[in-house]
Amino acid sequence: MRDQAFPIHPARRRRLRSWDSGREPWQLRDPSGTRQLLDLASNDYLGLSRHPTVVAAAMEAMASDGVGAGGSRLITGTRPRHLELESGLATWLDRNRVLLFPSGFQANIAAVTALSERHTTVLVDRLIHHSLLAGIRTSGARLQRFAHNDLQDLDQRLQRLKHATTTPLVVTESLFSMEGTSPDLKGMADLCAHHGAHLLVDEAHGLGVLGPEGRGLCHGLRQPVALVSGTFGKAFGSGGAFLAGDNTTMERLLQTSGAFRYTTALAPPLVAGAQAALNLIQSNPTWGSELCQRSESWRTALMNQGWPRPPGSGPVLPLLVGGDQDALDLQQELEQAGLLSVAIRPPTVPEGTARLRLVLRRDLPEGTLEQLLAALCAR
Ligand SMILES: Cc1ncc(COP(=O)(O)O)c(C=O)c1O
Repeated sequence: MRDQAFPIHPARRRRLRSWDSGREPWQLRDPSGTRQLLDLASNDYLGLSRHPTVVAAAMEAMASDGVGAGGSRLITGTRPRHLELESGLATWLDRNRVLLFPSGFQANIAAVTALSERHTTVLVDRLIHHSLLAGIRTSGARLQRFAHNDLQDLDQRLQRLKHATTTPLVVTESLFSMEGTSPDLKGMADLCAHHGAHLLVDEAHGLGVLGPEGRGLCHGLRQPVALVSGTFGKAFGSGGAFLAGDNTTMERLLQTSGAFRYTTALAPPLVAGAQAALNLIQSNPTWGSELCQRSESWRTALMNQGWPRPPGSGPVLPLLVGGDQDALDLQQELEQAGLLSVAIRPPTVPEGTARLRLVLRRDLPEGTLEQLLAALCAR
């Protein structure tokens, strides 16, 4: 009955699988079995979600401040640790000011609505994350999509907007999580400055991994980026998010953003976990570049085995398969070999481009690549 009301091809139907934590932080266990699978699927790039220092910080905060903040930021929800993390992130990223949000999805809605209104044209990369599109829908702005990472297409579109009455907004990501690719952000920032457009960059997957000392690809750009969006749900290993920008934009968010004002403040254990993760990333400035180097050697090895070289230079390596069922079959085969990598299918990715999304994490044991290559070879 339900299936008839909501017909979906079996190869496209999603189901919620649950996973137990494995013995080691880089392992996951299917609750129905005993086998430990190597985690090549999570976004816990630096292996911080179970890092003892991060866990201890979250537990200590929970013991002293409670599980929840108990109110929104403007009522009773702000603890000194919120302000400390905001100021620490602002210094690390060299931005005037940072505001925390309960999630990246929410932060992105706030970012787009702060920089656009009904008459604004928002130019987004064709493969932009759903939360940014939700932001455009909320603000009622006009949407235009430019070809993926294509500065020439963006330039032509901005050119056509030269008589626009409101400042156009360009939106991209520093690491596209299903493609593994990154834009030429310097070129894009220059282009935006040249055309007088604002630039919003979602660094959800880049922070902690890409850029100088893991500070993301926006760090050190000569031209201004109006807002940088970051999440603690990926390399920081916990949950929650933030926006970083200049004083004027951030004050506007504080005074007017419903997504910031009318929601319970980020839970104290998550704030403490993010602070501990930030401290660890700062004291281990080569973590990100080492992970990227390792990813490069994986790319080369996959290419030598006959796969198209996965694009980009970060820890996301998609293996393009094409058909939905083929991608699911490959996922299944890798699982049999003790490796967890998840098939990503449309509508998350464009039609005909189903893929296996391989994700590297810093703590993967020696021999993981060889295990993967053997599993791929056996098919
Ligand atoms: C590019 C991108 N932006 C934003 C988000 C949302 O972040 P969060 O998980 O903190 O809501 C995600 C997570 O899926 C993402 O991949």
